[in-house]
Amino acid sequence: MPDVTRLAFFGGVYSNSLALEAALTHAKRSSADGLYALGDFGGFGPHPDRVFPILLDAGVESIQGNYEESLSSGAEDCHCGYTDPRDNHFAQISYDYTARKTSSEWKRWMRTLPKTRRLEVAGRKVLLVHGSPRKINEFLWESTSPVSFLEKMLADSDADVLVCTHTGLPWTRLLPSGRRVVNAGVLGRPANDGRTNVWYARLTFGRDVSVEFVPVEYDHEELARRMREERLPGEFIETVSTGWWTTCLEILPAKERERGRY
Ligand SMILES: [Fe+2]
Repeated sequence: MPDVTRLAFFGGVYSNSLALEAALTHAKRSSADGLYALGDFGGFGPHPDRVFPILLDAGVESIQGNYEESLSSGAEDCHCGYTDPRDNHFAQISYDYTARKTSSEWKRWMRTLPKTRRLEVAGRKVLLVHGSPRKINEFLWESTSPVSFLEKMLADSDADVLVCTHTGLPWTRLLPSGRRVVNAGVLGRPANDGRTNVWYARLTFGRDVSVEFVPVEYDHEELARRMREERLPGEFIETVSTGWWTTCLEILPAKERERGRY
């Protein structure tokens, strides 16, 4: 057996407990040595309280996202970092629903989560964050994160491997220094590619670090049914059913936006 360590990283769950269960089943079957969740457990989907017992039962190590930071401090909005009114309109619907439906017990638990986590794996320093090392709600997009910017960010934060989420779109880049950035994508909604699956990231640490984005199929029709039952916006349900984003689009850089339908 080669001496490797396999770790699974889950981006925003956005209350998609069905996708979380499917991803955990897959990660365990593929012998993951560690399971990590990068925050934003609620938002967008139905029944936020269903996510937390699943995370704890599976032994997932979690950090806060902007959602946990906001919910646990009683903030009035998600601090998602959007600037356009249409993005903020839907973000507020999402946040108000999630804040109302998340029990105070779980809000207290969120407060205990760290905002970042550091691991040492096969001699490499791995830093887990939600947005970026400098801001919980910074969007690290593939098209607007040049190599020099990422090199400096990883050097400044003393990380060989940076794992983040928050944007909703998975990507990775190996930097000239040998450092690596991985945006793990999200489990909460599809990646705006016309496919209904969601994604998580599997990193294998050995002599090199390899990154694999794993597609997760789950019962998206059941998720859509639950969302309808909870009277969540039709726009959100359309995204789950078609794989195309219909909201929170204005924040997308031009390149990422071009790949979507809207
Ligand atoms: Fe986020």
